[in-house]
Amino acid sequence: MPSSVSALLLLLLLLLAAAAAAPPAGAQSRAGESDPDPTPTPWPHQFHSVLVMNFTGALQLIDLWYDWPNGRNFNIIRDQLSPSLLYDLEWNNGTSFFYTLDGDSPTCRTAQLEVGILRPGWLDGAAYLGRRRVDGFLCDGWEKADFIRYYEDLETKRPVYWRFYTGREAHVMTFEVGAALEDAKWQAPAYCFDQTGAEEEDEADVRGGSASL
Ligand SMILES: *[C@@H]1O[C@H](CO)[C@@H](O)[C@H](O)[C@H]1NC(C)=O
Ligand SMILES: *[C@@H]1O[C@H](CO)[C@@H](O)[C@H](O)[C@H]1NC(C)=O
Repeated sequence: MPSSVSALLLLLLLLLAAAAAAPPAGAQSRAGESDPDPTPTPWPHQFHSVLVMNFTGALQLIDLWYDWPNGRNFNIIRDQLSPSLLYDLEWNNGTSFFYTLDGDSPTCRTAQLEVGILRPGWLDGAAYLGRRRVDGFLCDGWEKADFIRYYEDLETKRPVYWRFYTGREAHVMTFEVGAALEDAKWQAPAYCFDQTGAEEEDEADVRGGSASL
C-alpha cells in the first residue's frame, strides 16, 4: 500500500509541476471556428465527493473533502472489502499525513512538499478534447498537460470522471458543493507528531492529492 500510494502521490506532484508550465497548444481554439472551446469549470472552494477509483481492476472508494479556504484536502480511502481506511490529509503548506486509525498497529507517515493542494482553477489551460458520453453522462472533456483527462457533465458542470495517464480512473458518485468536514476531523493523530514513531519522508516521496485524482 505505501509504495502504490507513493506512486499515485508522485502523479499529483508531476501534475502540479506541469500545471505551472505553459498551457498546451491544444488549449487554443481550433482554426476556422468562431466559438471558443468550452473551458473546465473551476472547483468549488468547498465540496465533498465520493469517488470510485479503478486502477487496472483494483477498486477503491474515496471520500474526498476539498477545503480551499482552510487550505486543506482530505482523501479517506478504502480498498475494496478492506476493514481499514487510509487517511491522506494534505495541507496547503506542503505537509501531508498518511495514517491509519484502527488495527493493531496504527501507522503514520508524513511528507513535506514544495507544492500545496490543488487550486480551484487547477484545470486552467487544459486542452479541450471534445464532447462524449462518459459513465452515461454527456460530457465535455479536457486533457491537462498529458497527465490527466477530465470530464464534466455538460448540463450540471459537475465532474463525472477523470483518468490519469497511468490508467487510474475516478468515477464521481456524489458531488456536494459547499459540504465541509468539521474541524475536529482534520486533526492528525498524536502518533503522527511523535518523532520516534513517525516516519519522515523526503520531498521526493511526494504528495497525496493524487490518491483522489
Ligand atoms: C476497471 O478497469 C478495468 C480496465 O483497467 C476494466 O477492465 C474493468 O471493467 C473496470 N472495472 C470496473 C468496476 O469499472
Ligand atoms: C502545516 O500545517 C499543518 C496543520 O496546521 C501542521 O500540522 C504542520 O506542522 C504544518 N507544516 C509546516 C511545515 O509548518
